[in-house]
Amino acid sequence: MKKDLKYYIETWGCQMNEEDSEKLSGGLKPLGYKRTTSKEDADIIIFNTCCVRENAEQKVEGNLGALKKLKKERPEVVIAITGCMMQQEGMAENIISKFPFVDIILGTHNAYKFTEYLAKALGGERPIVEIWDKEADIIEGAVIDRASTIKGFVTIMYGCNNFCTYCIVPHVRGRERSRKPEEIVKEIQDMVAAGYKEVTLLGQNVNSYGKGLEPQIDFAKLLRKINEIDGLERVRFMTSHPKDLSDDVIKAVAECDKLCESIHLPVQSGSSRILKKMNRHYDREQYLESIRKIKKAIPDVALTTDIIVGFPGETDEDFEDTLSLVKEVEYDSAFTFLYSKRKGTPADLMLDQVSESAKKERFNKLVEAVNEICAKKNKEYDGKVVEVLVEGESKSDETKLTGRTRTGKLVNFTGEKSSIGNLVNVKITKAQSFSLIGEQVQ
Ligand code: SAH
Ligand code: SF4
Ligand code: F3S
Repeated sequence: MKKDLKYYIETWGCQMNEEDSEKLSGGLKPLGYKRTTSKEDADIIIFNTCCVRENAEQKVEGNLGALKKLKKERPEVVIAITGCMMQQEGMAENIISKFPFVDIILGTHNAYKFTEYLAKALGGERPIVEIWDKEADIIEGAVIDRASTIKGFVTIMYGCNNFCTYCIVPHVRGRERSRKPEEIVKEIQDMVAAGYKEVTLLGQNVNSYGKGLEPQIDFAKLLRKINEIDGLERVRFMTSHPKDLSDDVIKAVAECDKLCESIHLPVQSGSSRILKKMNRHYDREQYLESIRKIKKAIPDVALTTDIIVGFPGETDEDFEDTLSLVKEVEYDSAFTFLYSKRKGTPADLMLDQVSESAKKERFNKLVEAVNEICAKKNKEYDGKVVEVLVEGESKSDETKLTGRTRTGKLVNFTGEKSSIGNLVNVKITKAQSFSLIGEQVQ
């Protein structure tokens, strides 16, 4: 009897990559492949790579090195690498010279052709190295094998036009392209028909959604259209670039019942001088003004952000500006990053790089401040009854369920297993620093 065909896929990086991996899975399942969590079992091994921050290369190379023995014992196994890192200049050649046993290398723009390349590789044509340096037109209709059956990502636009001076993303993901609203709405309607309750709309800068589309549409209008979809319960979106956050978007979040009271608004730095060097197109005051507007229009909103510490030229005073901004905004959570040089970006060539020790010291101070505020914000939930979308059983405790509030807070609680996939009310009995504990109420 023929054995079951299996694939293993490992994904690094952001939600864009996660969604791409769901599309790769979606292409493989109809061919009879089942997913496995063990490389030893797999007939296909895929690494979907990221390159936004440090250590990415070592991680990928370490993982590839570890496959050498497996490939020697089972040469028929197909090893494929895709994702943003493969899109960097010279990377594919570098990988194939160090790891000649790799069978398929493809970039971000042609990942949708994976099953075609796979057929060729299985036919003996190895290695296949194909990276497109220009973005393809948007390809609709890919099967997406989503990780959850309750909530899912929906990409509304690809690429980025912003060229923040530290960032590699525009170099590896190409220019901005927006999907047609009809396609987005149809995808969400299909998800709802399949039982999904929540979607997160994805794009590197969702606020510039719609540029170049006919008839004209902007992000606020798209949000309002999506809010009309029957049966859908919750809508989130990321990422919102502060320079393009319009009053209309804030108003839409305030007015539309399905749009969650939660906004991710990456600030990157609290110093106007550094923001200018980063090419972010807003200053501290403009950012804080947006925050004031959001808080006024959307009471109880949860605000989250991304912050980079140690950008070239950042002084102690600049860093103090970041700390004071964090304290003023009171973020519910923040992703904090040590600045790392990316080849091909303007900041890589800046001469005033900050020493590793100064970076680390500032980073630790920032994390401490962020955690303190996060714990304080969570305390506000103590004793409250909140709406939770139940996502499954809690990993840490088998008697408990897990889910999130509209504001994105993780809640572990005792409740009925039959509630999985539904919205329930939960009374918070204990607020911890990074999650909430509670019990289901009627
Ligand atoms: N498009 C989104 C996020 C892109 S990448 C936005 O504009 O916010 C996610 C985060 O990685 C960024 O917000 C930034 O904080 C961080 N990042 C990007 N490049 C980096 C670098 N070279 N060093 C450190 N952090 C970086
Ligand atoms: Fe990178 Fe800036 Fe584009 Fe975000 S907006 S992906 S940080 S260049
Ligand atoms: Fe990484 Fe690419 Fe996302 S570089 S952060 S996976 S867009």
